[in-house]
Amino acid sequence: MKDNSRRGFMGKAFGAVAGVGAIASLFAMKKTWDPLPSVKAAGFTTLDMSAYKENELVVEKWRGKPIFVLKQSKEMLDTEDKNMSQLTGKTTEAMDKKRLIRIGDAEYMVTIGLCTHLGCIPGYNQDKKSFLCACHGGMYDDTGMVTKSPPPRGLDIPPFKIKGNILVLGEEGPEYKKMKETGITL
Ligand code: FES
Repeated sequence: MKDNSRRGFMGKAFGAVAGVGAIASLFAMKKTWDPLPSVKAAGFTTLDMSAYKENELVVEKWRGKPIFVLKQSKEMLDTEDKNMSQLTGKTTEAMDKKRLIRIGDAEYMVTIGLCTHLGCIPGYNQDKKSFLCACHGGMYDDTGMVTKSPPPRGLDIPPFKIKGNILVLGEEGPEYKKMKETGITL
């Protein structure tokens, strides 16, 4: 009898703890399922571009994929100019700056944050201003262009449309269509 009542008590206590645990995990699950504030219905993500800081990589999300947003500083743009003219004899304007998205007075790198080799997520080094993919050592510059193989191409640019200060991911605006036509992205 005594044993039974203890068992009964233990059972209730366990049930109560399990109940709290279940509610807590339901909350945790709901939190995981809830879209980020920036994510809208129908596969669109809207980004307020005035919120980003120069040379600070922010990882957003679009259709379950990481999206790298990197606002360029003047120093970054100058370095890109120099590197590119050393490499090709042409100015960056003619080459990798085409990978950047101009909004207002600022230029942004906005790419899918998955290595174009086998899909790992590259890490950004703020001092070196470059991306390293730890899986096989591939590297990209701060515009998402490959600087060291094996990645076969630069980081892909997601479909986007510019609406004032807002960038809508998931819609194909004229700037994106031009990038696709000129082979800058897939
Ligand atoms: S997956 Fe990035 S270098 Fe291989």
